[in-house]
Amino acid sequence: MPLLKTTMVDVILGLQWGDEGKGKIVDFFAPRYDIIARFQGGPNAGHTLYVGDKKIVLHQIPSGVFHEQCTNLIGNGVVLDPVTLCREADSVKAFGVDLKKNLFISERTHLILPTHRALDKAAEGAKGEGKIGSTLKGIGPAYMDKTGRNGLRVGDLLHKSFTTQYIKLRLKHQKLLDNYNFDEDITQWEEEFFEAIEFLKSLNIVNGEYFINERIQQGKKVLAEGAQGSMLDIDFGTFPFVTSSNTISAGVCNGLGVAPQKIKEVIGVSKAYCTRVGGGPFPTELHDETGEKLRKVGAEFGATTGRPRRCGWMDLIALQYACMLNGVTQIVMTKADVLDAFEELQVCTGYTIEGKETAAIPFQMTHAAIKPKLSAFKGWNQDSTGMKSPTDLPKEMREYIAFINRFLGVNITWVSNGPGRDQLVQLGR
Ligand code: GDP
Ligand code: IMO
Ligand code: MG
Repeated sequence: MPLLKTTMVDVILGLQWGDEGKGKIVDFFAPRYDIIARFQGGPNAGHTLYVGDKKIVLHQIPSGVFHEQCTNLIGNGVVLDPVTLCREADSVKAFGVDLKKNLFISERTHLILPTHRALDKAAEGAKGEGKIGSTLKGIGPAYMDKTGRNGLRVGDLLHKSFTTQYIKLRLKHQKLLDNYNFDEDITQWEEEFFEAIEFLKSLNIVNGEYFINERIQQGKKVLAEGAQGSMLDIDFGTFPFVTSSNTISAGVCNGLGVAPQKIKEVIGVSKAYCTRVGGGPFPTELHDETGEKLRKVGAEFGATTGRPRRCGWMDLIALQYACMLNGVTQIVMTKADVLDAFEELQVCTGYTIEGKETAAIPFQMTHAAIKPKLSAFKGWNQDSTGMKSPTDLPKEMREYIAFINRFLGVNITWVSNGPGRDQLVQLGR
């Protein structure tokens, strides 16, 4: 038997409803890894990071692209829109990043077609009041075609039958669109798509599962980058107000083709409070001026759609659930600085549903009103953005962190105190 070198795949993923600051954290940790791999989701993601003082939002490309020594992989679990990828290639080019050199794409990655976007729009429109609040990037329809065994994959682009396959699927989609009475002209979307696939074909299209496992075998270090958040997971999130992929750590295995025992650290990212964009239950949501203040101070507007994010206090019941599902080994708490300006903070430590107290996430969070049980904490009321070491952190912030650690049984090991690359404070494990 050949002796395995130390194998290691670490994961960074969101513990809430997305937008926890994963992009910044992946970018920060990227220099410690050889490969950064996206394992699920698609251009519904918007991962913000700063290169110098320049802000950049990535949708399809892994957040390791700004580190020359990192190889980036788009895994088979992702759904890929060639048009977004093409646009993103242009925007990173301005930073000297050449995707032909450091981006690899699994041939098994499913494609988002223009008609998937149209179907997303038509289906959301038809839902009326009960709409999910989808980003309308075609995510749901593309994953439906994957599980429905109709979808087209990146590897299909290289086959001469691609156009025929495309036309066949497009006809199928047209029937569905006709049922929705969707009559928007998508000719321009299709023109852009066919232009973009020429670019996509010029990139490194590989067998992703061999690509990653061979490198793991050689002792290379892999960081798997999650999109969305655990509460948006298709199985365990607040269904049906979720996305269409497995956002939790289990998604790494089928989204990249790595075996579970290869996964070591699961680094969960959580804001110091909570946000959600789109529809669906959110027990700690604040509809008052405190919620407004969180949105304003935290600049809580969607990185992909620009929509205002709903804001509320940290929900330890949801966070505990996410830690359980993911096997979280450490937590990065982001946006702690946003709480600098608050006299008092609150965290949710229980739910009351129909008069009964519970510490569990119910099967259906929309059937009955959930009343959060809140514990109050004194705020620290000082500017934390320049703090560099754990001893600099205000006593009240350390108490807040200690309480969360005790509640979750998992420690916050890093605190992010601003959007900048260097605004991260490491705490002891
Ligand atoms: P992602 O989808 O998880 O990568 O997160 P987004 O990029 O959608 O949203 C996070 C937002 O918070 C971005 O605008 C980041 O620049 C910003 N951000 C990240 N960490 C911090 C932090 O510690 N403090 C502040 N004030 N902003 C942060
Ligand atoms: P990142 O990776 C926050 C939400 C949408 C909607 C629901 C379904 O930036 O954290 P979809 O487009 O997947 O059909 O939308 O999921 N959503 C996100 N919310 N951050 C994201 O990604 C999201 N991706 C999808 O708002 O409620
Ligand atoms: Mg985001």
